[in-house]
Amino acid sequence: MTSAYSLRRRLLFWLLISTAVLGVVALADTYREAVQTSNIVSDRVLAGSALAIAERVVVAEDGSLQVDIPYVALEMLTSAAQDRVFYRVDGPPGAFITGYQALPVLKETQGDNAVFADDSFRNEPIRVATLRRSASTGIRSVPFTVTVAETTIARRQLARAILLRSALRLSVMIAGAAVIVWISVTVALRPLYKLRDAIGERSPDDLHPIEQSVPSEVQPLVDTVNGFMVRLEQALDALRNFTGNASHQLRTPLAIIRTQLALSSRATSLQEAQAVALKGDQAVAHAERVLAQLLLMAKIDAAAAREALTASAIDLTAIAQEITGELIPTASAAGIDLGFEGDRPEHVRAEPLLIGELLRNLVGNAIAYAGTGAEVTVRISGAQDAVRLEVEDNGPGIAATRLDAVRQRFSRGTDTTTPGAGLGLPIVEEICELFNARLDLGAGGDGRGLKAVVRFEKV
Ligand SMILES: Nc1ncnc2c1ncn2[C@@H]1O[C@H](COP(=O)(O)OP(=O)(O)OP(=O)(O)O)[C@@H](O)[C@H]1O
Ligand SMILES: [Mg+2]
Repeated sequence: MTSAYSLRRRLLFWLLISTAVLGVVALADTYREAVQTSNIVSDRVLAGSALAIAERVVVAEDGSLQVDIPYVALEMLTSAAQDRVFYRVDGPPGAFITGYQALPVLKETQGDNAVFADDSFRNEPIRVATLRRSASTGIRSVPFTVTVAETTIARRQLARAILLRSALRLSVMIAGAAVIVWISVTVALRPLYKLRDAIGERSPDDLHPIEQSVPSEVQPLVDTVNGFMVRLEQALDALRNFTGNASHQLRTPLAIIRTQLALSSRATSLQEAQAVALKGDQAVAHAERVLAQLLLMAKIDAAAAREALTASAIDLTAIAQEITGELIPTASAAGIDLGFEGDRPEHVRAEPLLIGELLRNLVGNAIAYAGTGAEVTVRISGAQDAVRLEVEDNGPGIAATRLDAVRQRFSRGTDTTTPGAGLGLPIVEEICELFNARLDLGAGGDGRGLKAVVRFEKV
């Protein structure tokens, strides 16, 4: 059997996947925060420089606005050499004063504070800040806006550097986690390898319980295997016992047949030869019976193993009546009066062929052991939730002390002139088990004979 997957690889896979997913989420969050932080810092400088320019806006004598750009205000922005800075100053709506006329001006206002936005200028992404102020002549105040913009190279570089460092940290973390998982899984699996070795070293017929100490998660599995081994041991014992008995049961009649054959070769008269042949024939009949019963038992075992036994609802009255009818000639030949009672259909869940075998065994016993002149009755009666199948005779019956013994396999009475295997009643009992029925044995109506009762659940 090849293992479909490795526990170690599976654990590693899921742990790494989950770490990676969490890591990517954390990374995205870090990046977002890095961009935000660098924006806040740079925006503050942008606003400062706009304010420094605004402070230099004055109203000239002719009422127009004039500004003397303080270059330090722009220099404080160009901390990163690659970034370029732009500005413009506008007077009352529409009146451009100085700077880059194409630079976008932000329309929205936020009281005295500067407003910020991302935009682009000369095909380069920029960050724009617009500040609204007014210059006063003492008589009237003239509104103006100062707009300062800066390319975003430095900001982007900063955010990217933060992202890169975080990604590096994350990769180291994932690699570390992988190593830790690898080591801990190896340590955790060690008891399983020991268990495998312990089982592997066993001899094939050693079915003793596994006593290896294992992790608590594996203990139920070991318990199940142990339980299974106990059942296997029992089944093997039963099988050994059964085959031993079965071969013994067959060997006896075969030995008799050989003896009789040897005797027949030495017979001096026809009469003697006929007597020997008769004994041989009886032994063959016995062997035949044993074989038939053994085969039937194997069939029942197979049916029990095949759990999906086709047990549909059947009319027990009809089947019992039919089988009884079939057995009447045999019964008459043995001088037995075989009768049937039951006129209402009674349905039970069972398999007709096996019910036939059950009935043949019970009626066969009554015919074989009740003695000439006896009466045998097959009876079907339905109660509230059960259907009873009875086979009653008025022969010698079975002593109360032997009632349990006759249910054992190969157990027979003292009358061994009748060919039999001692498997009839065990077979009846096994068929009963298949269909949730129960077999009871007891004395017949007036304390005489045997009454076998099979109780089925009503459908
Ligand atoms: N109706 C009966 N009256 C008297 N004794 C019975 C009756 N039925 C069974 N027995 C006794 O119980 C024993 C066991 O019966 P069982 O049917 O199990 O085996 P068997 O008849 O000996 O062999 P087989 O396997 O061929 O049926 C019989 O040998 C017989 O002694
Ligand atoms: Mg029998």
